[in-house]
Amino acid sequence: MNIIFLGAPGAGKGTQAEKVSARYGIPAISTGAIIRSAIKTGTPMGTAAKAYTEKGALVPDEVVIGIIKERLAEEDCKNGFILDGFPRTVPQAEALDTMGVKIDLVISIEVSDEAIVDRMSGRRVCDACGASYHVKYNPSKDGVTCDKDGTTLTQRKDDKPEVVLDRLSTYHETTEPIKGYYEGTGKLRIVDGEQSVDEATAAVFATIDNVG
Ligand code: AP5
Repeated sequence: MNIIFLGAPGAGKGTQAEKVSARYGIPAISTGAIIRSAIKTGTPMGTAAKAYTEKGALVPDEVVIGIIKERLAEEDCKNGFILDGFPRTVPQAEALDTMGVKIDLVISIEVSDEAIVDRMSGRRVCDACGASYHVKYNPSKDGVTCDKDGTTLTQRKDDKPEVVLDRLSTYHETTEPIKGYYEGTGKLRIVDGEQSVDEATAAVFATIDNVG
Protein backbone atom coordinates (compact mmCIF):
# COMPACT_ATOMS: atom_id res chain seq x y z
CA MET A 1 0.00 0.00 0.00
CA ASN A 2 1.22 3.51 -0.83
CA ILE A 3 0.45 5.88 2.04
CA ILE A 4 0.93 9.63 2.57
CA PHE A 5 1.13 11.17 6.04
CA LEU A 6 0.02 14.80 6.14
CA GLY A 7 0.21 17.01 9.22
CA ALA A 8 1.80 20.03 10.81
CA PRO A 9 5.43 19.97 11.91
CA GLY A 10 5.51 17.90 15.09
CA ALA A 11 2.08 16.31 14.51
CA GLY A 12 3.65 12.87 14.85
CA LYS A 13 4.10 11.90 11.18
CA GLY A 14 7.60 10.50 11.72
CA THR A 15 6.62 8.69 14.93
CA GLN A 16 3.65 6.98 13.27
CA ALA A 17 5.43 6.36 9.95
CA GLU A 18 8.06 4.35 11.80
CA LYS A 19 5.42 2.18 13.49
CA VAL A 20 3.56 1.59 10.23
CA SER A 21 6.85 0.70 8.54
CA ALA A 22 7.63 -1.89 11.23
CA ARG A 23 4.15 -3.45 11.17
CA TYR A 24 3.53 -3.58 7.41
CA GLY A 25 7.13 -4.01 6.23
CA ILE A 26 7.18 -1.02 3.88
CA PRO A 27 9.77 1.81 3.96
CA ALA A 28 9.03 5.15 5.61
CA ILE A 29 10.43 7.91 3.42
CA SER A 30 10.96 11.27 5.13
CA THR A 31 12.04 14.11 2.85
CA GLY A 32 13.05 16.05 5.99
CA ALA A 33 15.39 13.22 7.05
CA ILE A 34 16.88 12.94 3.54
CA ILE A 35 17.49 16.71 3.50
CA ARG A 36 19.04 16.70 7.02
CA SER A 37 21.37 13.87 6.03
CA ALA A 38 22.44 15.81 2.88
CA ILE A 39 23.09 18.92 5.01
CA LYS A 40 25.19 16.85 7.43
CA THR A 41 27.33 15.32 4.72
CA GLY A 42 27.62 18.66 2.89
CA THR A 43 26.36 17.53 -0.54
CA PRO A 44 25.50 20.33 -3.05
CA MET A 45 21.78 19.66 -2.43
CA GLY A 46 22.31 19.84 1.34
CA THR A 47 24.25 23.09 1.10
CA ALA A 48 21.48 24.64 -1.03
CA ALA A 49 18.72 23.35 1.31
CA LYS A 50 20.34 24.46 4.59
CA ALA A 51 19.23 28.10 4.49
CA TYR A 52 15.61 27.13 3.82
CA THR A 53 15.29 24.56 6.61
CA GLU A 54 17.03 26.77 9.19
CA LYS A 55 14.45 29.49 8.77
CA GLY A 56 11.48 27.12 8.63
CA ALA A 57 10.84 27.66 4.91
CA LEU A 58 10.21 24.96 2.31
CA VAL A 59 13.00 23.72 0.06
CA PRO A 60 12.11 24.48 -3.61
CA ASP A 61 9.68 22.02 -5.22
CA GLU A 62 12.04 20.94 -8.03
CA VAL A 63 14.70 19.84 -5.51
CA VAL A 64 12.30 17.81 -3.35
CA ILE A 65 10.47 16.30 -6.32
CA GLY A 66 13.86 15.13 -7.64
CA ILE A 67 14.65 13.50 -4.28
CA ILE A 68 11.34 11.63 -4.24
CA LYS A 69 11.58 10.51 -7.85
CA GLU A 70 14.95 8.87 -7.16
CA ARG A 71 13.86 7.33 -3.86
CA LEU A 72 10.63 5.81 -5.18
CA ALA A 73 12.58 4.13 -8.00
CA GLU A 74 14.46 2.03 -5.43
CA GLU A 75 13.71 -1.67 -5.08
CA ASP A 76 12.31 -1.52 -1.52
CA CYS A 77 9.40 0.68 -2.68
CA LYS A 78 8.02 -1.96 -5.05
CA ASN A 79 5.55 -3.36 -2.46
CA GLY A 80 4.51 -0.03 -1.00
CA PHE A 81 5.86 2.94 0.93
CA ILE A 82 4.97 5.67 3.39
CA LEU A 83 5.63 9.29 2.48
CA ASP A 84 6.31 11.44 5.55
CA GLY A 85 6.61 15.14 4.70
CA PHE A 86 5.89 14.83 0.97
CA PRO A 87 3.89 16.25 -0.74
CA ARG A 88 3.94 19.60 1.04
CA THR A 89 2.67 21.81 -1.77
CA VAL A 90 0.00 21.31 -4.41
CA PRO A 91 2.66 21.20 -7.21
CA GLN A 92 4.39 18.37 -5.28
CA ALA A 93 1.08 16.47 -5.09
CA GLU A 94 0.57 17.05 -8.82
CA ALA A 95 4.12 15.79 -9.48
CA LEU A 96 3.25 12.42 -7.88
CA ASP A 97 0.29 12.13 -10.26
CA THR A 98 2.48 13.08 -13.22
CA MET A 99 5.00 10.39 -12.20
CA GLY A 100 2.12 7.89 -12.28
CA VAL A 101 2.46 7.12 -8.57
CA LYS A 102 -0.75 5.55 -7.27
CA ILE A 103 -1.70 6.68 -3.75
CA ASP A 104 -4.02 4.37 -1.76
CA LEU A 105 -4.43 6.35 1.45
CA VAL A 106 -3.74 9.85 2.77
CA ILE A 107 -3.73 10.12 6.57
CA SER A 108 -3.84 13.62 8.02
CA ILE A 109 -2.68 13.67 11.65
CA GLU A 110 -4.32 16.66 13.29
CA VAL A 111 -2.91 18.52 16.31
CA SER A 112 -3.54 22.07 17.57
CA ASP A 113 -0.79 24.68 17.22
CA GLU A 114 -0.51 24.99 21.04
CA ALA A 115 0.24 21.28 21.45
CA ILE A 116 2.76 21.46 18.58
CA VAL A 117 4.85 24.14 20.27
CA ASP A 118 4.93 22.06 23.47
CA ARG A 119 5.97 18.92 21.59
CA MET A 120 8.78 20.53 19.61
CA SER A 121 10.50 21.89 22.70
CA GLY A 122 10.75 18.35 24.10
CA ARG A 123 11.62 16.47 20.92
CA ARG A 124 14.96 14.64 20.83
CA VAL A 125 16.20 12.84 17.73
CA CYS A 126 18.78 10.23 16.76
CA ASP A 127 21.10 11.67 14.12
CA ALA A 128 22.13 8.17 13.06
CA CYS A 129 18.78 6.47 12.36
CA GLY A 130 16.35 9.42 12.50
CA ALA A 131 14.22 8.01 15.34
CA SER A 132 12.22 10.66 17.17
CA TYR A 133 11.57 10.76 20.93
CA HIS A 134 10.06 13.21 23.42
CA VAL A 135 11.48 13.88 26.88
CA LYS A 136 8.01 13.61 28.44
CA TYR A 137 5.58 11.89 26.05
CA ASN A 138 7.79 9.36 24.29
CA PRO A 139 11.17 9.03 26.05
CA SER A 140 13.86 6.56 25.03
CA LYS A 141 14.58 3.85 27.62
CA ASP A 142 17.39 5.78 29.33
CA GLY A 143 16.23 9.23 28.23
CA VAL A 144 19.65 10.03 26.72
CA THR A 145 20.46 7.58 23.91
CA CYS A 146 18.55 5.98 21.02
CA ASP A 147 16.88 2.64 21.87
CA LYS A 148 17.85 1.25 18.44
CA ASP A 149 21.54 2.11 18.10
CA GLY A 150 22.71 3.81 21.32
CA THR A 151 23.50 7.15 19.62
CA THR A 152 23.26 10.16 21.96
CA LEU A 153 20.02 12.03 21.24
CA THR A 154 20.10 15.69 20.17
CA GLN A 155 17.67 18.57 19.58
CA ARG A 156 16.98 19.62 15.97
CA LYS A 157 18.13 23.15 15.04
CA ASP A 158 14.72 23.92 13.51
CA ASP A 159 12.96 23.04 16.80
CA LYS A 160 13.88 26.43 18.29
CA PRO A 161 10.57 28.15 19.25
CA GLU A 162 10.89 31.03 16.74
CA VAL A 163 11.59 28.62 13.85
CA VAL A 164 8.70 26.37 14.95
CA LEU A 165 6.28 29.31 14.62
CA ASP A 166 7.57 30.00 11.08
CA ARG A 167 7.21 26.32 10.18
CA LEU A 168 3.65 26.34 11.49
CA SER A 169 2.66 29.35 9.39
CA THR A 170 4.30 27.77 6.31
CA TYR A 171 2.22 24.66 7.05
CA HIS A 172 -1.08 26.54 7.30
CA GLU A 173 -0.42 28.67 4.20
CA THR A 174 1.13 26.13 1.84
CA THR A 175 0.69 22.55 3.02
CA GLU A 176 -2.77 22.46 4.58
CA PRO A 177 -4.47 23.20 1.21
CA ILE A 178 -3.26 19.77 0.03
CA LYS A 179 -6.04 18.25 2.13
CA GLY A 180 -8.49 19.79 -0.37
CA TYR A 181 -6.49 18.22 -3.22
CA TYR A 182 -6.98 14.72 -1.76
CA GLU A 183 -10.47 15.19 -0.33
CA GLY A 184 -12.02 14.79 -3.78
CA THR A 185 -10.25 11.46 -4.33
CA GLY A 186 -12.01 9.80 -1.35
CA LYS A 187 -8.62 8.70 0.01
CA LEU A 188 -8.25 11.25 2.80
CA ARG A 189 -8.70 10.10 6.41
CA ILE A 190 -8.27 12.20 9.57
CA VAL A 191 -6.58 10.86 12.72
CA ASP A 192 -6.63 12.75 16.02
CA GLY A 193 -2.95 13.33 16.81
CA GLU A 194 -3.59 14.71 20.29
CA GLN A 195 -4.18 11.26 21.73
CA SER A 196 -1.24 9.43 23.29
CA VAL A 197 1.32 7.96 20.88
CA ASP A 198 -0.13 4.45 21.39
CA GLU A 199 -3.72 5.59 20.87
CA ALA A 200 -2.76 7.47 17.71
CA THR A 201 -0.93 4.36 16.47
CA ALA A 202 -4.02 2.21 17.08
CA ALA A 203 -6.14 4.72 15.13
CA VAL A 204 -3.63 4.76 12.25
CA PHE A 205 -3.48 0.94 12.07
CA ALA A 206 -7.31 0.73 12.12
CA THR A 207 -7.47 3.28 9.29
CA ILE A 208 -5.00 1.28 7.18
CA ASP A 209 -6.69 -2.05 7.91
CA ASN A 210 -10.07 -0.61 6.90
CA VAL A 211 -8.70 0.34 3.50
CA GLY A 212 -6.46 -2.68 2.92
P1 AP5 B 1 10.44 17.49 8.32
O1 AP5 B 1 11.55 16.75 8.92
O2 AP5 B 1 9.48 16.77 7.45
O3 AP5 B 1 9.72 18.28 9.48
P2 AP5 B 1 8.16 18.52 9.78
O4 AP5 B 1 7.10 18.24 8.83
O5 AP5 B 1 8.22 19.89 10.23
O6 AP5 B 1 7.84 17.37 10.66
P3 AP5 B 1 8.57 16.98 11.92
O7 AP5 B 1 9.63 15.97 11.60
O8 AP5 B 1 9.02 18.20 12.65
O9 AP5 B 1 7.40 16.39 12.78
P4 AP5 B 1 6.62 15.01 12.73
O10 AP5 B 1 5.21 15.26 12.32
O11 AP5 B 1 7.38 13.95 11.99
O12 AP5 B 1 6.58 14.72 14.28
P5 AP5 B 1 7.37 13.65 15.17
O13 AP5 B 1 6.85 12.28 14.92
O14 AP5 B 1 8.84 13.86 15.12
O15 AP5 B 1 11.00 18.74 7.45
C1 AP5 B 1 12.01 19.59 7.94
C2 AP5 B 1 12.30 20.67 6.91
O16 AP5 B 1 12.76 20.07 5.68
C3 AP5 B 1 11.08 21.52 6.48
O17 AP5 B 1 10.86 22.60 7.37
C4 AP5 B 1 11.52 21.97 5.08
O18 AP5 B 1 12.43 23.06 5.15
C5 AP5 B 1 12.24 20.76 4.54
N1 AP5 B 1 11.33 19.86 3.80
C6 AP5 B 1 10.98 18.59 4.14
N2 AP5 B 1 10.12 18.07 3.26
C7 AP5 B 1 9.89 19.04 2.33
C8 AP5 B 1 9.06 19.10 1.17
N3 AP5 B 1 8.29 18.07 0.79
N4 AP5 B 1 9.07 20.26 0.46
C9 AP5 B 1 9.84 21.31 0.81
N5 AP5 B 1 10.64 21.31 1.91
C10 AP5 B 1 10.68 20.17 2.66
O19 AP5 B 1 6.81 14.12 16.61
C11 AP5 B 1 7.16 15.38 17.15
C12 AP5 B 1 7.41 15.23 18.67
O20 AP5 B 1 6.18 14.91 19.33
C13 AP5 B 1 8.38 14.09 19.03
O21 AP5 B 1 9.12 14.50 20.13
C14 AP5 B 1 7.46 12.91 19.36
O22 AP5 B 1 8.05 12.01 20.25
C15 AP5 B 1 6.26 13.64 19.98
N6 AP5 B 1 4.99 12.98 19.72
C16 AP5 B 1 4.61 12.35 18.58
N7 AP5 B 1 3.34 11.89 18.68
C17 AP5 B 1 2.91 12.29 19.93
C18 AP5 B 1 1.68 12.11 20.65
N8 AP5 B 1 0.62 11.46 20.10
N9 AP5 B 1 1.59 12.65 21.89
C19 AP5 B 1 2.65 13.32 22.45
N10 AP5 B 1 3.84 13.49 21.82
C20 AP5 B 1 3.96 12.97 20.59
